[in-house]
Amino acid sequence: MLLQGKKGVVLNVTNSNSIGWGVAEALHAHGATVGIGAQNERMLEKVLKLIDGRDRFETFTCDFSMDEDLQRLHDDVKSKFGKIDYFVHSAAYAKKEDLHGRFIETSRDGFSLALDISAFSLIAACKALDPLFNDDASVVTMSYLGSTRTTSNYNIMGVAKAALEASVRYLAVDLGERGIRVNTLSPGPINTISARGVRDLTGMLNLVEERAPLKRPYGQEECGLSTVYLVSDLSKGVTGQILFVDSGFNITGF
Ligand SMILES: NC(=O)c1ccc[n+]([C@@H]2O[C@H](COP(=O)([O-])OP(=O)(O)OC[C@H]3O[C@@H](n4cnc5c(N)ncnc54)[C@H](O)[C@@H]3O)[C@@H](O)[C@H]2O)c1
Repeated sequence: MLLQGKKGVVLNVTNSNSIGWGVAEALHAHGATVGIGAQNERMLEKVLKLIDGRDRFETFTCDFSMDEDLQRLHDDVKSKFGKIDYFVHSAAYAKKEDLHGRFIETSRDGFSLALDISAFSLIAACKALDPLFNDDASVVTMSYLGSTRTTSNYNIMGVAKAALEASVRYLAVDLGERGIRVNTLSPGPINTISARGVRDLTGMLNLVEERAPLKRPYGQEECGLSTVYLVSDLSKGVTGQILFVDSGFNITGF
């Protein structure tokens, strides 16, 4: 199997609709051992039900807003796995009021919070996990088209995703010294608990379905399969890239 013998972490998962869960399932199906993260102990209860005693799964908790959690993440991953071959970052947060309305009204607070949880967390988690990465490990995060285009009701999260994509390129340079690759998927809209915080998600889903070149849906499963590629040696020459998983919607214009 493509990922036989590989170990790593997917942070974070909330429920079976999470993109992180689609990724965890695909990595696991291709032979990997998967450490699944939840933001806190309460949220971990749902994750435990998802894995329900299945082998090659481990669990972790990490709230990216807390430095002590990042240190604990390092310690827990070290004690459960030793070294790791991949890290999938699948987390973002912004205040609801900063996602819609006029972008110009974004508060200082809301800006810092969105950038901290949605972009800085990738840098901080890579730093915490760096001593545990095997040479040739792979890091994957989740961006969105709103990083380079204005998309309705996305506002501050578009700025956070732009920062995330720039961070991917700078991290690719730093970690590339050890052969570690850093890439991002850019999924189209997918119905998850976070996406439901974006107004008119249904309108976005309908627009993509109508315009995307591939006349078939994409979702958690497709994100999982593309992550398998990015974690596997099949992508060993690929770093600092954005891989769209949106049935091709991003290439369309009027
Ligand atoms: N659903 C979409 O349409 C879509 C499209 C493109 C990109 N994405 C990105 O995919 C990633 C996963 O989102 P999702 O749609 O699966 O939603 P989700 O709600 O299932 O996952 C988001 C995760 O972020 C975690 N998180 C939030 N604040 C955190 C914090 N302080 N510390 C640690 N974790 C925290 C949550 O616990 C949750 O597990 C996000 O980066 C999101 O922006 C989603």
